[in-house]
Amino acid sequence: MFEIKAKDNRGRVGVLKTKHGNVKTPALMPVIHPRKQAIDVKKYGADIVITNAYLIYKDEDLKQEAIDKGLHELINFDGPIMTDSGSFQLSVYGDVDITNKEVIEFQELIKTDIGTSLDIPTAPFVTREKAEEDLEITLQRAREAIEYRNSQNMEMKLNSVVQGSTFPDLRRYCADELTKLDADLYPIGAVVPLMESYHYKDLVDVVMNSVAHLPDNKPRHLMGAGHPMIFALAAAMGCDLFDSAAYILYAEDDRLLSTRGTYKLENLQEMPCSCEVCTKYTPDDLRAMDKKERRDLIAIHNLHVSFAELRLVRQAIYEGSLMELVEERCRVHPQLLNAYRQLANYMDDMEKYNPRSKKSAFFFTGPESLYRSEVKRHMNKLREMPKKRDLVILPPSRKPYSKFISGKLGEFYIYGSERELDLEDTDFMVLDIPFGLVPLDIDEVYPLSQNESPKIKDVDSIEFIEDFISEFVEYYDQTLIHSRVIKDLEIGLYNKHSQSDEIRFKKDDLRKIKAIADYQFGVGAGEALFKGNIKIEKSKKTGKIRHIYDKGVIVANMRASDSFLVLSKEGAKRLHNSMPYPENRVVVNEDSVPFARDGKSVFAKFVVDCDENIRSNDEVLIVSEDDELLAYGKALLCAHEMGDFNTGQAVKTRKGMKK
Ligand code: GUN
Ligand code: ZN
Repeated sequence: MFEIKAKDNRGRVGVLKTKHGNVKTPALMPVIHPRKQAIDVKKYGADIVITNAYLIYKDEDLKQEAIDKGLHELINFDGPIMTDSGSFQLSVYGDVDITNKEVIEFQELIKTDIGTSLDIPTAPFVTREKAEEDLEITLQRAREAIEYRNSQNMEMKLNSVVQGSTFPDLRRYCADELTKLDADLYPIGAVVPLMESYHYKDLVDVVMNSVAHLPDNKPRHLMGAGHPMIFALAAAMGCDLFDSAAYILYAEDDRLLSTRGTYKLENLQEMPCSCEVCTKYTPDDLRAMDKKERRDLIAIHNLHVSFAELRLVRQAIYEGSLMELVEERCRVHPQLLNAYRQLANYMDDMEKYNPRSKKSAFFFTGPESLYRSEVKRHMNKLREMPKKRDLVILPPSRKPYSKFISGKLGEFYIYGSERELDLEDTDFMVLDIPFGLVPLDIDEVYPLSQNESPKIKDVDSIEFIEDFISEFVEYYDQTLIHSRVIKDLEIGLYNKHSQSDEIRFKKDDLRKIKAIADYQFGVGAGEALFKGNIKIEKSKKTGKIRHIYDKGVIVANMRASDSFLVLSKEGAKRLHNSMPYPENRVVVNEDSVPFARDGKSVFAKFVVDCDENIRSNDEVLIVSEDDELLAYGKALLCAHEMGDFNTGQAVKTRKGMKK
């Protein structure tokens, strides 16, 4: 029912499949009022809508019409329709006259595509006792709904809503319990009060604790989120669906939505965008209109900006610039910036979903960028890499650094025990923002060259880097720090100053490809892959390494765009022989062994295990349960997703090992 097409951090572009058509996610579902609807939302970009089954149920005429003609005809929409259950009315009025079972039955009767059980939206910041009490009812109703749907062979898909107020552990518990059910979608509920009161930081805690415990193969819906200002952030946290009554509620109130916030018509001198409404009318024109005409035009503007933002979010996921978009959006309000800073606490989780290579470069847009998962990943990797005796720290040059650093390197300060440098036993690294230290042998690998930051450093970045280095140099006997590094960053970490202008970084292609292999596949991969009589072939045009052979047999290719290695059959064998199970492996069940060996791509449902370090787009080995190498290829899902998905491809096989 749900497939992932592209990913960036926890954000995903997906396809939600329904009987009434497919929907590209992240998607916005405009809220349709079953009686008062004045705007044809399809015309402005809606592929899916949401309406309220309880409101229909409570109105005798609507109820009869919905039963007779079906929901789609009732609201005149031929695409997929989701219905809500009356829970929101429950949270506002304290009571509804419908039972959980009745609302499930009714939603099936009127032929909704996706129905919802009668969850209890527990408000934020209530007592723990209240949150726990409500949660048990929500869970019990979710179980009842699924059991009832299954026992009656109902056709509709079902939402199971995550509740738990603002208690992170209750959100996790709820998500865990709901994951055990056979629900089709997982909304995250009771977040409207958080958004209305600008508690975006708490929203981050609620969403991250929920999604981290929900299955990856089901769409998640951030219930009641309809302001385009938060779409990018919510999508980056793994939300796939949004619903908006905001477009019409704000319009009723003469307020115009924008990714920069909300504009009151009374304050507008200029129209805020280039949609059909903003280009045709001035604020004075709108103010002069009668209420209904004005409301509809503002609602149309609101829909335009909302759908435009979702297109931008999806494009950002495709190109790998979602976090840059989030960083931009979160600067429109200090509480959003606070939320983004809170997200830094979840970057270990984000890292697990984030592909290692992207089409677009990493842009540093401020000190918050230092906490992004790419930076964290590199710093963790750096701590695992094999170390030489001494370290030379160089100032940044143009990128790739290894190409532009040359000649005499100048004056150095020494930290640690002073001794002659043995160039064979020395690591060379460039100090730069945001990646801290970048070893010159791997500096072409994404994103270590594919990033940009301002030359003028901010104090947070300097402190961040200083803290990292002072910890990192402890691994080395002696560290020589270039005088310009000291000057630029005011690093206080040295004993004395010496003339060391004989130091030179000597490029060595074999050492470089081994270092890249270690960085990519794990320590030891370089020695295993590139042993023997290695010959390196470079591009005549760019001078970059392209093919790596051992006695005429190709072992690996180096991808020009990101400098990652792509294995050949021989390379796959070498990696398999040298790295212990389950490293770099996707393990398939017995049934799919012949298919994999034959070079067929691996479907997610056949995957029984895999290396937890696999990320989408990684080069991986495909093995049987007794670790026979069957094939090799490119992962399309990360390790967590491989465990959760039962449909779609998991690995795009490059080649089977069949002779
Ligand atoms: N609409 C907005 N919030 C909620 C919620 O928590 N539950 C349901 N069912 N609908 C909502
Ligand atoms: Zn507009």
